[in-house]
Amino acid sequence: MTDFRNKKIWIVGASEGIGRSLAKKLAAAGATLILSARSMDRLDSLLEELKGEHLIVSLDVTEGKSVERAWEKIESLKFVPDIFIYNSGYYEPMSAMNCDFEIVKKMLDINLYGTFTVLSKIIPTFLQNRKGHIVLVGSVAGYSGLPRSMGYGASKAGVINLAESLYCDLKKQGIRVQVVNPGFVKTRLTAKNTFDMPFIITADKAANYIFKGLTSSSFEIRFPWFFSTLLKILRILPYPLYFFLLRKL
Ligand SMILES: NC(=O)c1ccc[n+]([C@@H]2O[C@H](COP(=O)([O-])OP(=O)(O)OC[C@H]3O[C@@H](n4cnc5c(N)ncnc54)[C@H](OP(=O)(O)O)[C@@H]3O)[C@@H](O)[C@H]2O)c1
Repeated sequence: MTDFRNKKIWIVGASEGIGRSLAKKLAAAGATLILSARSMDRLDSLLEELKGEHLIVSLDVTEGKSVERAWEKIESLKFVPDIFIYNSGYYEPMSAMNCDFEIVKKMLDINLYGTFTVLSKIIPTFLQNRKGHIVLVGSVAGYSGLPRSMGYGASKAGVINLAESLYCDLKKQGIRVQVVNPGFVKTRLTAKNTFDMPFIITADKAANYIFKGLTSSSFEIRFPWFFSTLLKILRILPYPLYFFLLRKL
């Protein structure tokens, strides 16, 4: 069982939803947190709710300079994390028929390219220390192409692929890598959906799953079990059967 009491954990995307709930859970377990996102007011209000000494570092993951400044602050305050959690995300439901390529770009910028931008600071430091723990939040929507998931699905497929690749490269360097693949979670992101969301859970429940997963040796933390297993099975089917079942579902 991981003891979080002597751990510094950087949560990028801590101001809302899943990241906010996870921050509360980790702080309650004694971790020292670095809380990042764009909205200072939301981070301030989160800090007020947490016990312990934590650091707020605002950043916009789509701006290299902003990430640079955030990292300089973390290093100068000797807050280099033991665990790095990339949770920032953006989603708009979008099909090929109503596609807005500006929004697609925004999803890719925040969900995928932002991950690389922040990792470009973290990986060299973890490599130098020959230790560290990287956690990337993907989605079951990244397992395979789903309807109304243009842009978002591709960005999350990229995150899963990136995590797999990092796992292969970094394991022998003493660095742990995990990917988190949630199903539907009730947050402002999914409030945009007008369709039924099967097996939807609260952000607190999602945070519980992630918390438990962080202490396990699994590469993937996925939930809820039934829905994520169903999508895992779908993705390994031959395409004609896959598309047939998607139409039925
Ligand atoms: N909700 C679901 O059903 C679901 C399912 C699967 C995966 N996920 C993934 O889980 C993660 C959290 O999602 P959520 O549902 O909790 O969404 P959320 O409530 O909207 O939270 C998203 C977080 O990302 C931050 N963020 C967005 N743009 C950013 C930027 N440019 N720079 C820095 N931070 C930024 C937000 O903070 P600011 O706005 O303050 O910057 C916020 O803290 C995302 O990666 C999402 O794709 C969610």
